[in-house]
Amino acid sequence: MRILAIESSCDESAAAVLDEARGLLAHELHSQIELHRAYGGVVPELASRDHVRKLLPLVRRALERAPTAPGELSGVAYTAGPGLIGALLTGAALARSLAYAWGRPAVAVHHLEGHLLAPLLEPNPPPFPHLALLVSGGHTQLIEVSAIGRYRILGDTRDDAAGEAFDKTAKLLGLPYPGGPELARLARAGVGGEFHFPRPMLDQPGLEFSFSGLKTAVLHALRGRDLTEQLKADVARAVEEAIVDTLAAKAMRALEVTGLDTLVVSGGVSANQRLRARLAEAVGRLGGRVYYPRIEFCTDNAAMIAVAGLARLKAGERSGLAIEARAQWPLESLAAVN
Ligand code: KG4
Ligand code: ZN
Repeated sequence: MRILAIESSCDESAAAVLDEARGLLAHELHSQIELHRAYGGVVPELASRDHVRKLLPLVRRALERAPTAPGELSGVAYTAGPGLIGALLTGAALARSLAYAWGRPAVAVHHLEGHLLAPLLEPNPPPFPHLALLVSGGHTQLIEVSAIGRYRILGDTRDDAAGEAFDKTAKLLGLPYPGGPELARLARAGVGGEFHFPRPMLDQPGLEFSFSGLKTAVLHALRGRDLTEQLKADVARAVEEAIVDTLAAKAMRALEVTGLDTLVVSGGVSANQRLRARLAEAVGRLGGRVYYPRIEFCTDNAAMIAVAGLARLKAGERSGLAIEARAQWPLESLAAVN
């Protein structure tokens, strides 16, 4: 089986071709970061309009590079949610129409299932069952993954997501959008000692997160201070430490509760090197193992949508003729695949 996949849930337009036997044949991506930078965040209407411009050329290029003729495809997968509704609609309409024109089935894919399954693209994929820490701009979740499609959410954020906490504090430090990678880069020059930000909910039982207090703490720390490069780096380091500490502590607690020893970390924040080092050390001490997608597949991409789409297509799943797009879509409502 071979599948074309399209992703357009937020600010990345992407297309990929995945073959069951030969693996990933092509993946093309256009990031809209430059388009939204002037506004300090994603502007939904601009995102939708740019997807309309970029998606079809990306699809064409992916098919050329694979190389694959439409007749060789077994189906077309697309991100149907959750995400920005206008952005989702552009990819869904294109994917559904191509599938219809080519006489092939379409498969509606859950964006977060894509993130969860992205490590399956690597040569040494994680075994099931495992625990997943999904950390992106919109989500911070600990999920027990028994099999493809069998997800149980053990912990979630009560307010800001981990990526959002990075982005919002980075904004306070005057860093460009998206702030996560910029803050991480700045943190490397930071010196520890002066700043210590709260590790919310660490002293409470359970697996919930809360990151909204962090930006207030940073705002207080910066008040009346001269924003030198060194001060910004010191604050960035302390922010990163607080977020990484919290994520690692709760992930370890979840491994303990479930008795699992395999951890999968995915979503944009899983690109963070400090988080990776901390988790490798902690899970290693347990005798377990941590798995990640390759760095370019940590953030949004179509390759991960192809993995989820192919698994569902192989299991006989077919979407109807409707163009499906859902701003909200509970992960736990998905059907199990095996
Ligand atoms: O998964 P993703 O591309 O989009 C969503 O579905 O949200 O995640 C984007 C998020 C942003 O908040 C970005 O700042 C964060 O991931 N991020 C990072 C790093 N790289 C991306 N946060 C911390 N350190 C990084 N190296
Ligand atoms: Zn994402």
